[in-house]
Amino acid sequence: MKRTVTMGMALAAALLFGCTQQFAGVKSMRGADVAAGDKADAPKTYVGKKPGLQQKVARTFSTQPPVIPHAVENFDEITLEENQCNSCHGAENYEKKKAPKIGDSHFINPATGQKLADSSMARHNCVQCHVPQVDAPPLVENNFVGNVKN
Ligand code: HEC
Ligand code: HEC
Repeated sequence: MKRTVTMGMALAAALLFGCTQQFAGVKSMRGADVAAGDKADAPKTYVGKKPGLQQKVARTFSTQPPVIPHAVENFDEITLEENQCNSCHGAENYEKKKAPKIGDSHFINPATGQKLADSSMARHNCVQCHVPQVDAPPLVENNFVGNVKN
């Protein structure tokens, strides 16, 4: 019995040694020791400030949801009942808020193609399509050219 345990342990040690040998040249993708401090970049801040003072951002293709040129951090979260975006962009409010009205396509039932009096609930979660921007360099070089003249 004692012999089996000793042999088992010897085998485990040999396996462990083999593994460390095999992975000796492997570096972590993080490029640092596990215990070392995180080297991730500091979070970037969105460029947009208070709505009403920003230039719209040029669109790059015709069906692109325009990106949000203003700050959104201080707005309440969109819930089923609440949507602060619509308090400026909704059909009843946009004129007095001097904000662009939500797109015509937002008043169409996507399932039937039927025109609606109010905007479709399929467009309720604005930030699933419209996003604020940070001034970040492209991750990879590219030569993309948009097809919309603004
Ligand atoms: C206080 C009023 C206000 C609120 C709230 C608001 N916006 Fe705006 N938004 C504006 C104004 C004004 C503009 C015009 C550009 C500017 O001045 O920032 C604008 C511009 C935009 C544009 C650009 C449209 C285009 O044609 O380029 C998008 C997209 C947008 N907002 C989406 C949103 C979303 C999504 C929310 C909610 C998270 C939101 N906005 C909340 C006032 C508002
Ligand atoms: C499923 C994606 C989607 C959702 C959700 C969505 N949008 Fe849009 N939005 C678009 C697209 C695409 C366009 C550009 C084409 C158009 O005007 O319909 C647009 C256009 C706009 C414009 C510019 C309209 C113009 O005439 O130039 C505004 C402002 C806007 N959306 C605001 C909103 C707000 C506010 C919400 C939430 C209540 C919202 N959108 C939800 C996709 C979306």
